Amino acid sequence: MPEPLRLGLAGLGTVGIGVVKIVQRHGALIAARAGRPVSIVAVTARDRRRNRGADISAYAWEDDPVRLATRRDIDVLVEVIGGSDGPARAATEAALASGKDVVTANKALLALHGQGLAERAEAAGRTIRFEAAVAGGIPVMKALTEGMAANAVGRVVGVMNGTCNYILTRMESAGLSYATVFEEARSLGYLEADPTLDVGGIDAGHKLALLAAVAFGTRVHFEQVAIEGIERVAIEDIRLAADMGYRVKLLGVAQMTGRGLEQRMSPCLVPADSPLGQLSGGTNLVMIEGDSVGQIVLRGAGAGEGPTASAVMADVVDLARGIRVPAFGLPARLLAEAPPAVQPAPAPYYLRTTLVDKPGALAKVAAALGDAGVSIDRMRQYRHEAPEAPVLIVTHKTTRDALDHALAAFAATGVVVGTPVALRIEQV
Ligand code: HSE
Repeated sequence: MPEPLRLGLAGLGTVGIGVVKIVQRHGALIAARAGRPVSIVAVTARDRRRNRGADISAYAWEDDPVRLATRRDIDVLVEVIGGSDGPARAATEAALASGKDVVTANKALLALHGQGLAERAEAAGRTIRFEAAVAGGIPVMKALTEGMAANAVGRVVGVMNGTCNYILTRMESAGLSYATVFEEARSLGYLEADPTLDVGGIDAGHKLALLAAVAFGTRVHFEQVAIEGIERVAIEDIRLAADMGYRVKLLGVAQMTGRGLEQRMSPCLVPADSPLGQLSGGTNLVMIEGDSVGQIVLRGAGAGEGPTASAVMADVVDLARGIRVPAFGLPARLLAEAPPAVQPAPAPYYLRTTLVDKPGALAKVAAALGDAGVSIDRMRQYRHEAPEAPVLIVTHKTTRDALDHALAAFAATGVVVGTPVALRIEQV
């Protein structure tokens, strides 16, 4: 019988227990597929006595994640503690220093410290794998590093935070405000302990930074992701966008342009009948464009015990098979330093504004757009009783600079009430 691959499991929350269950349920299947058994040797978590709904009595217990990570009887640290620093980082660094591979679901750790950790891993002849960190159960890292290994990637687009997608689709289907659905999501336990990670776009931004690094062979730079959350998405915009044939999504886009690497995570409109527009509830979807393969669409569960543990175990099985892909798909020293794009690529925009209902008001707004070089594709004024008229405009493709110029000029027209809403329409 070949030697087992021995795991030290750091973290016994939802994902950690999912890993325990898969190892226990599918031991024979994994051994057959990997050519050797995979066993959990030792575990660590904050509270030893907590009932976790899985039998962990056969595993050695460590109170200290660093001690677990440096045990001589483990080959791989499985880090599912979470958090960009603290015990997760300490255990990961200790594991690499003592010659272990690391499998992690920790997007924050990799997004903030990925380059340094990849370099440490390679110096030690080890690797860090993180399939579970991006879009949960969807094998998106494998798609990029294996299935698309011979493609130049042009663009990666996706919905990578299930909680935000749940909130936005529920707002539309029930006609409820953001605040009401946010509270609903909280009571259902969908939100991270710090909800801004979800609704502020940070969690999804971490994932996008990791995807961009692997897709374009660049150093991971989370701080270069332009992030806007969903907190200010109004039910009116969801309704009116639907009326124009669009849905609002918290959309991540990474693309290499002539002006540098563009990475942004923000509420955007997508055509309602596109795969992204059709995505409802807590599901994730990642679309990757490769020069040879064309467009690939991957869709599935982005979170949860089974899906996330499934992705962790896919990396573990690779290691058991002796497959050691570098953390970001290329040796760390070859990862390029791409300049960040200062402006997003031109796109059509959705504009919602409120006008004083008097002769010439619409003409003034149209002139402000025209003067800024922004061309109108469609325009709709809604029936109203108040002295103020809600107006929707869909522009042709324009730069954000030109649009901001026009929006600044709106204020000087004397007919615009309040601040207009501008949402990018992403062509997907
Ligand atoms: N909170 C995330 C989501 C899952 O809602 O998709 C963990 O990244």
